[in-house]
Formats: sequence, structure tokens, C-alpha cells
Amino acid sequence: MSRRASPERSAAQLLGDFGALPDTAPRAPRPTRAGRERVNRPIAPRRGRARPGEGWSPVEAPLAVYQAATSEIGGLFPLLAANGVPAVGARMGYDTLSGGAFYAHPIEWVLRGLSTNPNLVVFGEPGRGKSSTIVAFLLRMMCFGFRALIAGDVKGEYSPLVRALGITPIALGRGSPARLNALDLGPLRSRWAGWPVHRQREELAGVLGRWVKLLVALAEAQGYSPTVTDEAVLSAVLRRLVGVDDGYTELRPVTIPDVQRELAAPDDALWQATRFADRRQFLDLLRPITDALGNLIDGPLAGLFDEQTNFTLDWDAPVQSMDLSLLRSRGDQAIAVALTCLGSWSSMATDLQSDGEIRIVVRDEMWRQMRLGLRAVQTVDSELRLSRIEKNVQILVGHKPSDLMSVGAAGSQEVAIAKDLLALCSTRVLLGQSTRVADELAEGLGLSEREQDVITGWAMERQGRALWKIENTPGFKVQTVLSRTERRIFDTNAQLRSSAMPKGDHDD
Ligand SMILES: Nc1ncnc2c1ncn2[C@@H]1O[C@H](COP(=O)(O)OP(=O)(O)OP(=O)(O)O)[C@@H](O)[C@H]1O
Ligand SMILES: [Mg+2]
Repeated sequence: MSRRASPERSAAQLLGDFGALPDTAPRAPRPTRAGRERVNRPIAPRRGRARPGEGWSPVEAPLAVYQAATSEIGGLFPLLAANGVPAVGARMGYDTLSGGAFYAHPIEWVLRGLSTNPNLVVFGEPGRGKSSTIVAFLLRMMCFGFRALIAGDVKGEYSPLVRALGITPIALGRGSPARLNALDLGPLRSRWAGWPVHRQREELAGVLGRWVKLLVALAEAQGYSPTVTDEAVLSAVLRRLVGVDDGYTELRPVTIPDVQRELAAPDDALWQATRFADRRQFLDLLRPITDALGNLIDGPLAGLFDEQTNFTLDWDAPVQSMDLSLLRSRGDQAIAVALTCLGSWSSMATDLQSDGEIRIVVRDEMWRQMRLGLRAVQTVDSELRLSRIEKNVQILVGHKPSDLMSVGAAGSQEVAIAKDLLALCSTRVLLGQSTRVADELAEGLGLSEREQDVITGWAMERQGRALWKIENTPGFKVQTVLSRTERRIFDTNAQLRSSAMPKGDHDD
């Protein structure tokens, strides 16, 4: 028998004659950067692991002819649509309904009309994975040039991540030399001289407004409810202290003790400018606010927020964190006051930091500061509103919506403002909750019965499971997947484990 002259067809050509084929060509392994550990390594290849029953191969629309033997395909899921969330940003894990990867990019969501603002609120019972989900998000968004600021890390949960990235978190509290002036001028001071007068006026008005709000919130935390006269005088004092009325080209640094001294020993120009009959009347009327600020200076936070800031924040670092874990022994009130000072300072600093970068500002346990009173609630509210949201992504973290509602009596103004805060966060990430809070969730966030069931049932089965509700979309059931390195870095249970087990029993 003579051999045929025509060339033989390869297996691929032969199979190709019978229809479109899945892409089975082996891909060259991606080059890895030697000598550098990748903290956010993908945990599985794009098409799953190459093991029986684990791989998958999507067919893009419009549908092409797809042929294969049933011995090769375990299952077919025709017309399965992806979740509709664009595949950009942080790849958080997988959407359990579509089986596809779930990406989070709040700015893109706003640009594509999925939501109206880029802020997130994260709720979940203790230990469900709130901090881990946020840290994974921050870490993965860093690949897109986003930077993060943790405005008050009460439990020191973010410090391991910050250290893993080679940055030293700024610890405030017992034994730490770091000091932060609650009335710090931040980037305003260095920028001031270069601005035209109208810009100077505008920026200063914003900063003075913030400082007055901060001071009245702090006074209220001492049990005194400031009056409009107190606010007007505080504003006048701050203007004088900062030097703006003198027409100086340079702003002077101000601290809380400076303000308290001016109130306790006013000069003639001050009481006259603020329209008091005499010095005695000024002192008598302003005694409560003067004493409230005085208590703050002598109280458990003495020295921490009332001296000049003695560190410089590296704005180029991918993440910066203010660790408040050393303050825990000073009590809830001290932490609330510290969070209030930090919140105000970080909003001002991030707003003025015009480096074109988008910053993610994390406010964990923010409800603690809101318990200080109506003014504190108003401060948080105005910070969120004032923040130029197109350049900031704010993440509020709490256990449950009622934490926000517990800031005042039912029907009070505090509660009304706190409820509105939720509206300032288009995206809600809802981790597991017990059935007890299901009704509350439904009421506060307008959840359907199915969504409540997801939070109280499915999300309770594993850590990192959450219902992601972007504005009014039906929620996405997302399992956040942590890489091995991330699990090691974020393990907040490590301390429990090491005290419960002998050493060496729990190595990865
Ligand atoms: N997606 C996940 N996969 C695996 N483990 C996870 C995941 N999310 C969280 N964990 C683990 O669960 C534990 C608790 O997580 P985390 O500290 O993030 O919870 P939390 O909700 O912030 O708790 P708390 O309210 O006490 O601050 C950690 O040890 C963490 O490593
Ligand atoms: Mg946490």
C-alpha cells in the first residue's frame, strides 16, 4: 500500500473540523518577580485547578458552537449570566450564585451608574471577617494605586498588614511618644502661601468649621451641651489664634490648651469683638465650655491630642494607620474622644492632600464616637458630607445597624442623623448576623426576606461570607477568599490559638 502524499492533520486540526474548540493550548507560565514575596497572590488559576472535576471554561456571548464528549464535560450550565458587576478592581472572591469571580471597585461602580457614592458600610457579628474583608480589599486596591488611611484602629487589627508592607503604624497611647494635635493644620500650613486669597478664605472657613464642630463635640463628651454663643466665640478665638485676622501670610499652629487659655483669660479685644458687656460677663457665660475643654486637657487623654503633632505622615505610603490599641485601658470614653479627634484630623488632611490619589479612609467602630452625643453624631455626618467623596472612599465598620441607632433615644435627632449616615454609603457589605438582628437589618437597610435569610443563614456558615448590596441591586452572595499569606497576616484569632495550644501545633 502506498503512502498518501498529503500532510497528516494534527489532532487539533482534526478535532477543529468538527466544531469550535475550547482553548486548550498550554500557556507559558507568567514570569514572577524574583526576590519579592507577593502578598496578594491569586489563589487559583483563572480556569480553576487542573484536577478532575475542578476546572471550568466559560463560553462568552454570543454563544458559539461548543462540542465535546460527555466523558470530558461533567456538567453544562447554559445561559448562566455573570453577576453584572464589572470585572475591575479588587478580586474579592467568588459570587456563589453565578460561580464567577466577584470584583469590587466602588469608584467604577459610581462611574458606571451602579451606585451614587463610593462609600461602603460593613456590618457583621464579631469574628465574622469584617476586618479581613476590608484588609483584603485595601491590599488588592493598592494594585490600582489606591492608598489607605485607617483613621483609628481600636484593636490594632490593621497593624499586622501595615507592618507586612514595611510601614510602622503610628501608635497613640500609653508608652508611645507619638502625639497628634487635634487642631493640626496638616497640609494647609505648607500650601497656604501659594494660594490666591479666595482659595485661602475658602479652605480656612472649612477648617475652622471642622475645628468648632470638633471642640463642641468634645465639650459635649464632658457633659456640657454648648450653645450657639459658645460656637461663635470658639470660632472667633480660633481665627485669632491661627493668625488670619492679623493678615499674616503664615498660619500659626493652634492647640486645645491655647483655646482654653484664651477663654479663661480673654483680652479686651476678644470680649469686645464678641459683643459682651464686659470681661466678667464673658467669663461667666463661657465658664462651662472653658471648664469642659480644661477637663479634656487634664483627663485620661492628657497630652495625646493637645500638643503639637510630632510625626510626619508619609503620604506616599500605600497605607497609614493610627493604632489606638494602647488606649484601651483608658476606657470607652477616651477611645471615643480619640476617634473623634482622629476622624476630624484625617478628613481634613485627606481632603487637602491634593496628590491626585484616591484614598480609602477606614473608620472602624465609628459608632463608639457617635455615642458621645448629638454633636459627635453631627461631626461624623458633616465629615462624610464634607469629604470630597469623588476622591475618597469612606468605609464605616460596625457590628449591626442598631449600634448606630443606639446613639440616642428612639426618635431622637441623633438617631435620625445616624440613619441618614447609612444613605451616604451606597454599598453595604453584610456579613453574618444572628436572627435577632434580622428585623433590624431589614428595617434599617430595606432588605428583602430572602436577603435577611442569606445573612442569618448562609453567611453564618463560614467566615468571609457576605451579602454585597450595591445601591438597590439585589445583593450578591460573595465568599471572600484569602490567600495563604493574607490568612497568616490577618489572623486575629492567632492569639487565642497560641494560648490554647502548645507551640508548634498550629503551623500552616
Ligand atoms: N474569608 C476568610 N477566609 C478564611 N478565614 C477568614 C476569612 N475572613 C476572616 N477569617 C478569619 O476569621 C477570624 C476573624 O476575622 P476578623 O478579625 O476579620 O473578624 P471581625 O469581624 O473583624 O471581628 P471583630 O468584630 O472582633 O473585629 C480571623 O482569624 C480571620 O483570619
Ligand atoms: Mg475587626
